[in-house]
Amino acid sequence: MTRKSAERSSRLPGFYKLTPTERADIVGEFANLTAEEKYALRHETLTLARADLMIENAVGIYGLPLGVAANFRINQRDYLIPMAVEETSVVAAVSHLAKLIREHGQLTTSSTEPIMCGQIQVVSVPDPEAACQRIQAQKARLLALANEQDPMLCQVGGGARELATRLLGTPRGEMLIVELYVDVRDAMGANAVNSMAEALAPFIEEITGGRVRLRIISNLADRRLARAQLEIAPAAFTEEGWDGEEVINGILDAYAFALADPYRAATHNKGIMNGIDAVVVATGNDWRAVEAGAHAYAARFGRYEPLTRWRRGEDGRLVGEIELPLAVGIAGGATKVHPTAQIALKILGVRSARELAEVAAAVGLVQNLAALRSLVCEGIQRGHMVLHARNIAISAGAVGDMIGQIAAQMVREGRIRFDRAREILVHMLRAAHEKAHELHLHVEEKYERKPPPKVPEDTRPEE
Ligand code: MEV
Repeated sequence: MTRKSAERSSRLPGFYKLTPTERADIVGEFANLTAEEKYALRHETLTLARADLMIENAVGIYGLPLGVAANFRINQRDYLIPMAVEETSVVAAVSHLAKLIREHGQLTTSSTEPIMCGQIQVVSVPDPEAACQRIQAQKARLLALANEQDPMLCQVGGGARELATRLLGTPRGEMLIVELYVDVRDAMGANAVNSMAEALAPFIEEITGGRVRLRIISNLADRRLARAQLEIAPAAFTEEGWDGEEVINGILDAYAFALADPYRAATHNKGIMNGIDAVVVATGNDWRAVEAGAHAYAARFGRYEPLTRWRRGEDGRLVGEIELPLAVGIAGGATKVHPTAQIALKILGVRSARELAEVAAAVGLVQNLAALRSLVCEGIQRGHMVLHARNIAISAGAVGDMIGQIAAQMVREGRIRFDRAREILVHMLRAAHEKAHELHLHVEEKYERKPPPKVPEDTRPEE
């Protein structure tokens, strides 16, 4: 399978059937990876020496599979999407749905400016109302002071934008919370915001007469939202004996269940985060921050709800939307330190943190649809079982095409076990051996034992 890189199509039929090296070649062509980058992709590239610089008490490197989701077309642009995830079916399911959407619908995204919030907690304020007013009166000075902490950020168009105050009743008395809003541009933002909040603290104490306790970013980044929308025709779901209309009805029922029940909503959202986290991890971003933001946002109306919305459009198509805080960066932090994260960003080809957040949101939405479709149709165990069976076949010693054949047979039989994989493998090897033996005899008989065929006298060339 060879393609011109200029085409940059993420539609890769049969990609899953290739070897990892063949896939890396295709991805390399798509993303113009250098030979070193392709090599690095295939080998664990985070060294212990580098890990030792990243965290304390490092003793080793923990690996995760890095897959690439194919077929994504977002805002009319093709993407190959790196996903670091240990769970089987996640990459396959999202790639399959992305293919159905590109053939039967469309996928678009949008986002807000990358505004993060830093919170400064002030306790024991003598006159909280008056303190709020004094802070507002000093706003320009405080914002300037915040911006002095990060001239680089200001140079690239970011910086502290707004300062707000609110009073919070707590069991330990009323507290004054100062909130600093910062445009963090292409960074995740925690370092910039935390430094600014810490720098403001002494001045806030001076202005309020209170005592500053916490100075820290909020992970409920609800001013930094990423959104994705998709629509897809019922025909997309008419496959393998399923009626597309009925599948859509099933998906809408599944959504209604999640909307009405937090127990289901948690699992619904877990499926969304399967996709989002995999992109966040692959690109070296802080997935705990993204997780915290997503679930807090899911509960913003006082009840835990699904992060996606599903409905039927006027033309009968299924319409889905997602909106969530997505604090991810393409500059700084592990995105720059982790070599694979850098390559993942290059494969993705995103030009800003906002674009990365939008792609992650799109993956979450499509992942959710993939999960709901399979839950409504065959159930998720079948897909899981096929991959599980492949792993069993590999551990039993199968290689190459045999892996898929043994896995398929075990799934058909409903006996996905190591001993059965071994039996089938031995049987296959014997059959292959016998066939090779037969072929050998045949060749010997035909070409070695028999004398060369006689040429009839009258057709011999004249001497
Ligand atoms: C499994 O990792 C994710 C699902 O449980 C999501 C869902 O139930 O929607 C399949």
